[in-house]
This record gives sequence, structure tokens and C-alpha cells, in this order.
Amino acid sequence: MDTFIEGLPKVELHLHIEGSLEPELMFALAQRNKIDIPFKSVDEVRKAYDFSNLQDFLDIYYQGMNVLQTEQDFYDLTWAYLDRVAKQNVMHVEIFFDPQGHTERGVAFETVLDGITRALDDGRKKLGVSSFLIMCFLRHLSEDAAFETLKSAIPYKHRILGVGLDSSEKGHPPSKFKNVFAEAKKEGFLIMAHAGEEGPPEYVWEALDMLKVDRIDHGNRSLEDEKLVARLVKDGTALTVCPLSNLKLCVVKDMKDHPLKKMLNLGLKATINSDDPAYFGGYMNENFKAVTDGLNLDKSDLLTISRNSIHASFLDKAAKDVLLGKLDTYMKKAA
Ligand code: ADE
Ligand code: ZN
Repeated sequence: MDTFIEGLPKVELHLHIEGSLEPELMFALAQRNKIDIPFKSVDEVRKAYDFSNLQDFLDIYYQGMNVLQTEQDFYDLTWAYLDRVAKQNVMHVEIFFDPQGHTERGVAFETVLDGITRALDDGRKKLGVSSFLIMCFLRHLSEDAAFETLKSAIPYKHRILGVGLDSSEKGHPPSKFKNVFAEAKKEGFLIMAHAGEEGPPEYVWEALDMLKVDRIDHGNRSLEDEKLVARLVKDGTALTVCPLSNLKLCVVKDMKDHPLKKMLNLGLKATINSDDPAYFGGYMNENFKAVTDGLNLDKSDLLTISRNSIHASFLDKAAKDVLLGKLDTYMKKAA
């Protein structure tokens, strides 16, 4: 099964580029930028990655970002991710970035955007990995701050396809950002939100009805509400599920309890993604393997998941058809 997973053509729809900052690169950038970090070694950093909830992780994640200062830093970060997933047969990625995590520290919006998009362009040319970029608002900050960030993004609409919502979920419902998402939609951005990771099903309802999302990130707790499941199934709304993230952040106790198989059985459009691979112990292949082991998934489950990811991507029909064709060819060879 491992070999099958490694060769399987994959699409990643839920990846925070800042969450792909490996400890080795964190040290290299800290040295390059002469920034102090509170760790003596790579081992010590990895030991600190022991989280009991989302906030535990976010505290370390925002601290890690401090080493990212220059356009080249954002290029190196993004390139390292693309180079790694290209070797895992990832064909297309839709990646999040957190501009407020950088502008709040005095790094210009353009510095961040330029570095990431230069690497994405190179990824397309040199690795054959296609990509879209999605900007997230940090939900622990105010809606006014999100409006400021939206304003910064308007001149770069051709480089940013969508707008998402991430960071501390509990106590920061989607409704808090109703107006800024309405404005973003008017400006032509696609819309998504993290919902139902730690927060209740009501937050998923709000993401659907108030923010008018095109996709739900995580969505695990939707399963607590039958009517919500029916709505998601009826609309064909995709869930970008992140198995190793869920395990590391104690959203699930054991991979054997992961709701992915249940989601598929209910007809939900679930996909597999890595979220913050440098912090949670793995990229796409590792996520596929861990959840396949935990839930005894078979090849037809993995085919369904890969198909869901292609359909749930923001690619146009022609590009989706190319990827579906690659998947078909692979399945015929693997049969
Ligand atoms: N930012 C980075 N990873 C996140 C996650 N899993 N949930 C919310 N915000 C995040
Ligand atoms: Zn996430």
C-alpha cells in the first residue's frame, strides 16, 4: 500500500506555507537574518512540537515565523515545500499564507507575496507543479484588521485566488468576519474558512450561510449535526481534512478514531491534506499512509479521495480533466 500511495497522483488543498518551515531552515534563516530563537538545536525544536490543542501549536507557529524576513526567505520556504511534494507526486497545490503574521512584525505585504509567487512560478516551470495562492485572515484579530489586509491584496488579485480564515477558532466565529468576506466576494476572491476543527457545527453553518464559502477547511465537527451533513452532501461542499494535524492537535485521540472513512460513507467530499507538515510529522504521503493504516482504507477509498481533491480544486474543467486522466492511467497500471 505504501508504494501505491507514493505513486498516486495527488492534489493538496490545505497547506499553510508557514507551516512547512522545517527546523533546519528555521535555523539557517535565523543565522542569515541574525535573529535569536529560543532553541539550541534542531532536536530541541522538534521536542517542543508536542501540542495538546490548536492554541498550543499556534503559539509556536507564530514564533517560528519570526525568522522569515526577506523576499528570498519566503522564496526559499515555498521552494522547499514544492520541491518536496513534487517528489511525492503532488501535481497541484492550493496554498495558504498568513499575511498578518508578517505585516504585524513589520514585514511588507509585497515582500511576502513576491517571494512566495516567485517560487510558485518556478515550481510550475521547473517541477511541473501547478498552484494557486490563498490569503488567510487571522481570526483572533479584528474584522477591521482583516479589511486592511484585504485592501493590501486588491492590487494583486491576479496573484491571489482566494481568501480564507484561520488561527484560533473557538470564540472567533465566522460571523465576526461577515462584512469583510462579503467585500472579498464582491472583489472576485474565492472564499473558504477553517470551521469545525475545534469549533462547533454552528461555525460550519455560519461559514456556509454567512461567508458563502466555496470549501470548508477541516469540518470534522460537522458530523455532530445530521442536518449539516445533509446540507454539505446536497451542495457537494468539499472538506479539506488533515489527518496528522488532527492527531497532533488532539482533535482525534487515535488515528483509528479518525472520521475520514465515516465522512466518505456519508457521501461527504472529503480530501486528505497536510496543514502544517513541518509541525505535524508529515507531508502528503505521510498523511495518506497514517490514515490508511489507522482506518484500513483500500485503494478504492484512496481513488475516491484523490478524485474528490481534483474536483474540489479551483482548477478549470480542462485542467481537472488532465489530472483525472493521470489518475485513471495510474489506477489502470496499479490494478
Ligand atoms: N494556522 C495554521 N494551521 C492552522 C490550523 N490547523 N487551524 C487554524 N489555523 C491554522
Ligand atoms: Zn489549516
